[in-house]
Amino acid sequence: MKDISYSALSNAALRAAESYYPEDERLFYDRTAFYLLPPLWKLFLKLMKFSPLREMIYSKRDKEMPGVIGNLLYRTKYIDDVLKENLKEIEQLLILGSGFDTRAYRFDGVEKLKVFEVDHPQTISKKRKGLKKLYKKIPDHVRLVEIDFDKKKLEEVLLDNNFAFNKKTLVIWEGVTQYIEQKSVDKIFDFFAELETGSKILFSYVKKGIVDGSDRSEVDQQIISFVEEMGLDWKTGIESSKIETILNDNGLNLIEDVGREEYKKRYSHLTSREINIYAGERIVYAEKR
Ligand SMILES: C[S@@+](CC[C@H](N)C(=O)[O-])C[C@H]1O[C@@H](n2cnc3c(N)ncnc32)[C@H](O)[C@@H]1O
Repeated sequence: MKDISYSALSNAALRAAESYYPEDERLFYDRTAFYLLPPLWKLFLKLMKFSPLREMIYSKRDKEMPGVIGNLLYRTKYIDDVLKENLKEIEQLLILGSGFDTRAYRFDGVEKLKVFEVDHPQTISKKRKGLKKLYKKIPDHVRLVEIDFDKKKLEEVLLDNNFAFNKKTLVIWEGVTQYIEQKSVDKIFDFFAELETGSKILFSYVKKGIVDGSDRSEVDQQIISFVEEMGLDWKTGIESSKIETILNDNGLNLIEDVGREEYKKRYSHLTSREINIYAGERIVYAEKR
């Protein structure tokens, strides 16, 4: 398999590039993502500062993976908003498959929380390097936690890292469920059942029919082929109609299940760009009873 961190690096690069748009055109500002990237990626991003080149790269990528950039940008905006809404209520932030997520560093008030960034050792090692370059050390409120979700139990690894099960937590599990095995996804849902009442959970998922091939459009097929060309694999999908049952079985109440249509309604006034959004991935927002 290609480097497991590749998809996380390209997400960070796209978030950093969003910050090149003027304030009244961008969906969010994530300059920190730029600083966390390895040198070659930084060089590439510097070139993307030139808007004609950036638009050319986006349009090429959008032909290869229709709407995937748009989905990433809008889901980032949505999750940022949920984090901001919950900042005063929560005591811990748990980011599963955190990649180069910068939410621990770019919002005032997050430094008062304990933040657990959990990812595969290959990705954590690159992030550690980036953070040390930027801040000289890992900021005190952050704990980088290494795990292979398909091999280790999340509860055990978190307990070894002083995660407190009795503290209200916001969990962000973004862009990961499709990359890990079904049994690992199930185990993480079991873990959610152990969280403190009032904890909030956000996770993205790809619809089951897309992953298992039973309900795949041409666009879905094109995206899956591109993912495979990158040496990655979509292993697990979730059936939208089963979300409420899965949540209910794990002590969670659905707040909302959002995707392309909700993003368009809520956020398209923020930019004049025509951004194509892939509809195959959605986000669930839930609360622990
Ligand atoms: C598409 S990236 C998403 C990263 C980040 N959440 C974001 O939205 O930019 C998928 C992440 O899942 C992590 N990942 C994939 N398989 C994993 C596994 N078996 N165990 C731990 N992390 C894994 C990768 O290292 C990567 O950071």
